[in-house]
Amino acid sequence: MCGIVGYTGKALALSPVLEGLRRLEYRGYDSAGIALVVTKGAPLWIEKRAGKLSNLEDSLGDVIPDAHSGIGHTRWATHGGPTDTNAHPHLDNEGKLALIHNGIIENYVELRELLEKRGHIFTSETDTESVVHLLSDARKAHNGDLAAAMREVCAELRGSFTLLAIHADEPGRIVGARRNSPLVVGVGDGENFLASDVSAFIAHTKRALELGQDEVVDITSTSIVVTDLMGNILTPREYEISWDASAAERGGFPHFMLKEIYEQPKSIADTLIGRTQGLNSEITAGINLEGISKVVIIACGTAYHAGLVGKYAIEKWANVPVDVELASEYRYREPAVDSSTLVIPISQSGETMDTLMALRYAKSHGARIFAVCNTNGSTIPRESDAVLYTHAGPEIAVASTKAFATQLIAMYLLGLHLGRVRGAIDEKTSIEIGNELALLPAKVEQILETVEPLRSLTREFKDSTSMLFLGRHVGYPTALEGALKLKELAYMHAEGFAGGELKHGPIALIENGTPVIAIMPPSNSLLYEKMVSNVQEVKARGAVVIAIGDSDLSSAAHNIRIPTSHEYLQPVLAVVPLQVIAYEMAIARGNDVDQPRNLAKSVTVE
Ligand code: G6P
Repeated sequence: MCGIVGYTGKALALSPVLEGLRRLEYRGYDSAGIALVVTKGAPLWIEKRAGKLSNLEDSLGDVIPDAHSGIGHTRWATHGGPTDTNAHPHLDNEGKLALIHNGIIENYVELRELLEKRGHIFTSETDTESVVHLLSDARKAHNGDLAAAMREVCAELRGSFTLLAIHADEPGRIVGARRNSPLVVGVGDGENFLASDVSAFIAHTKRALELGQDEVVDITSTSIVVTDLMGNILTPREYEISWDASAAERGGFPHFMLKEIYEQPKSIADTLIGRTQGLNSEITAGINLEGISKVVIIACGTAYHAGLVGKYAIEKWANVPVDVELASEYRYREPAVDSSTLVIPISQSGETMDTLMALRYAKSHGARIFAVCNTNGSTIPRESDAVLYTHAGPEIAVASTKAFATQLIAMYLLGLHLGRVRGAIDEKTSIEIGNELALLPAKVEQILETVEPLRSLTREFKDSTSMLFLGRHVGYPTALEGALKLKELAYMHAEGFAGGELKHGPIALIENGTPVIAIMPPSNSLLYEKMVSNVQEVKARGAVVIAIGDSDLSSAAHNIRIPTSHEYLQPVLAVVPLQVIAYEMAIARGNDVDQPRNLAKSVTVE
């Protein structure tokens, strides 16, 4: 969702701001805009356009304003459609104060009424515009001190926000604030950055500062001041970004998604390093894992599917009950949770609002929080007692692939660790599983070397109206993930079912020619024969079955082979062909692979 960039420094600001927006495109957006301070005291230079960033660039032509500070925004519409007028930045009535915003201002209607009574003229349908007028009045009341004005305004706002503001009277100064929405500072040499995430400025600096809840940041090219809303000076945590700009580029692949699919062996290996025989005390220091009576996993989308696999592994190895909850549902049903509950939020971005709110609910009821996250410095790990970072590297394509693979790994590592802490798993078994985990990168590599035939196979089903996915045991969440990938990429009706549940309803969906992807358990599993029966049931009703498994199934029309693995670890392998099928289907149907319609990578509103 909305991408935010601010630049102040020695360079002409247009280029780093546009470059930052380009790197934040993956978050999902439907309009874009930039405001720059060109001439002190004169109205700001501003350009904004509905649609892709290229529309904005086209309207800029060859113009490079002589400005050394400015802000840029990619908007994912919530209040008001994706039009030029609703695009950010928004201006005050003098055209000298510009504001960009990510999040939702819940009390914008009452603010708008108040501000209109005071004579402010509104031009857009957005919630954001109320804030720029409010900030304009507050700045005047504070004798032109934009940071003091921002502090006062933030205290009056309800909802979630990242805000960045510039004023024409103060070239070189940018003031930002955040509540329940991401904002990081990039510390440069004679230049500083503000952005939704570090990918916006990674090409310029690897030094970043974390900002906490309800903090205001005031930057120039040579200074960074962070305060709370009372104006008390704070010292933010600085961290080094561990990946470089090339990690956030396509590196010869036609799409980020394909690159990320191919990066999975490395991401898995990186997440496993030094952890297969237990999590080190640096990771677990902040949390007491003894005496837990229940585990609750909270997550959204693909991360939720990783959590479902986690349930099988953690219950089996740690012998503790595990619930997996959609984060958006969790807090609203007031679940029973207390200090004996271990809550595991899983989030690639670390900023998903639903997950964050569920985490806060659990924390306020005394739960211990052990996050699984891919983004250093993001909100979810910051608010957790401990965090197991996945090392997927930056994931740019909206549809999650390598992050999912590493979230699965994190689930296994946590399951094994809890099993050891609780004395529920014997050493021999945990070592064996650890060894099996270590084999996964090479097995995924092997699958990736043999996926070529999937391209023509996928094209065969390109005009299907629906595709069904079947699995049992850990193959069931894998089926759900395969169906989600296809929905996201192919815009095709797709559903995942538990093989045993088929006869209780879903089998009515099968028609002559319906493609059904069956995720076969390893052939030595007790469930293998049961799944063979499920395949027979759909085949008898006309389904065309594509089987994914470690041996060929004679009743299937097509077989996709994956290496044999430990039963619980199989999702890491079986999901790879499912990702490739969804990718190929998007191409075959002419869809936008990296930024599918209507979707956002980082969902920072509820
Ligand atoms: C969005 C993304 C999904 C992702 C989900 C959870 O819906 O499009 O790919 O799985 O959010 O995101 P998180 O960052 O919390 O893992």
